[in-house]
Amino acid sequence: MKFFVDTADVNDIRELNDYGFLDGVTTNPSLIMKAGRPMLEVIKEICEVVKGPVSAEVTATEYAEMMREADILSKLGDNIAIKVPLTLDGLKACKALTGDGRMVNVTLCFSANQALLAAKAGATFISPFIGRLDDINIDGMQLIADIRTIYDNYDFKTEILAASIRSANHVREAALIGADVATVPPAVLKDLVKHPLTDKGLSAFLADWAKTGQKIG
Ligand code: E4P
Repeated sequence: MKFFVDTADVNDIRELNDYGFLDGVTTNPSLIMKAGRPMLEVIKEICEVVKGPVSAEVTATEYAEMMREADILSKLGDNIAIKVPLTLDGLKACKALTGDGRMVNVTLCFSANQALLAAKAGATFISPFIGRLDDINIDGMQLIADIRTIYDNYDFKTEILAASIRSANHVREAALIGADVATVPPAVLKDLVKHPLTDKGLSAFLADWAKTGQKIG
């Protein structure tokens, strides 16, 4: 499973990139607002830090304007994935952009049928939002499982990018189902390393090591 970080905070991205488990970045207009910086400047900087796909979302809702924005965003780096919403105009833009060799992340997916349409439009990534479905008492993880089955049934190459992840458990479940990618907030990504027995074991080793009075080197 690939890990993308779901943030527009360049400091967090730099830190996570150094750990060696980061495969890409996703942003959205809300994350750009949170970062409090000009979008084009931030995305360009992110593309310089991370080599993998960096999703930058169009803000237009009509095809022609989406394509105009996509052209601007594409120039920010070779690794830009244009993010388009799961609407008819978004699907049309997806088809045109992927036909032109660009990566496209179709976002705001809340149903298996939507995911099927995105795959048919040639999407590079489909982003089903787990947490937002859970918020309205619909099983978000079941959507990931349904899409996995459908894509495998028809051999679609579109990668399932589990999004709106809220916990380490979401990551584990999405991985078990076979999501290709998880986009994860920085704090949750760092939570994945935690286990109380690791901390306890390390403390015990360090205490015993101190008793030996030795030093390495
Ligand atoms: C995905 O690309 C989205 O940016 C993100 O995962 C949305 O998550 P949220 O529901 O926590 O805002």
